[in-house]
Amino acid sequence: MATPHIQAEKGQIAKVVLMPGDPLRAKFIADTYLEDVKQFNSVRNMFGFTGTYKGKEISVMGSGMGMPSIGIYSYELFKFFDVEVIIRIGSAGAYTDNLNLFDLVLAKDAWSESSFALAQSGYDKDVIEPNRELNALIADTATKIGKTVHENTIHSSDVFYHEDNVDGHVEFYEKHGCVCVEMESFALFHNAQILGKKAACLLTISDSLVTHEVTTAEQRQNSFNEMMEVALESAIK
Ligand code: ADE
Repeated sequence: MATPHIQAEKGQIAKVVLMPGDPLRAKFIADTYLEDVKQFNSVRNMFGFTGTYKGKEISVMGSGMGMPSIGIYSYELFKFFDVEVIIRIGSAGAYTDNLNLFDLVLAKDAWSESSFALAQSGYDKDVIEPNRELNALIADTATKIGKTVHENTIHSSDVFYHEDNVDGHVEFYEKHGCVCVEMESFALFHNAQILGKKAACLLTISDSLVTHEVTTAEQRQNSFNEMMEVALESAIK
């Protein structure tokens, strides 16, 4: 049964979906890590693929940028395609010099100024948690394969470019305890909660709002491989 944004049949999508923001990264992951790959979606070029990793079926699909976009795709995957688990894999900007470029962050929870959850279900708080068991599994997997993850509160922002007269990264860090910023997890965690599913978010620090360091495209590619290994090894457990 196709939905407005995903042209696939139910059985074509695995129970576990890894979700990068960029659909071309989804293709890269499928090409690099999965076997017996079949593409299940190309509507709006939001590519989705299903294949096997170490013999277990896994799907990978782009989410697009921002909460409205991941809100649509995660809702359709959970509700209409019987997906049970979505692990977002993305990039984030550091709000503290305790985080270096390429560090891995596992979202302990997501704070947001977004009205997504209020508009979607009437949820009126500004923090949403991922699935605790899934987080524990990802943290444990990372340790077992020798990768360090920082489990902290993250900021899911609606805005990439802020004007100077509004709260900046210092306030988000000091007032809300957010160590880094991305733009999707609050909506993903919300959808998982209202639909009784599981979600988590693993991030690689790609830039710093403190030091103004940025990564090159090539550096991002290599560092994302680390995050991918943690996500894939977690997904098959
Ligand atoms: N993702 C990666 N870097 C980001 C930033 N600086 N702001 C929002 N999302 C991001």
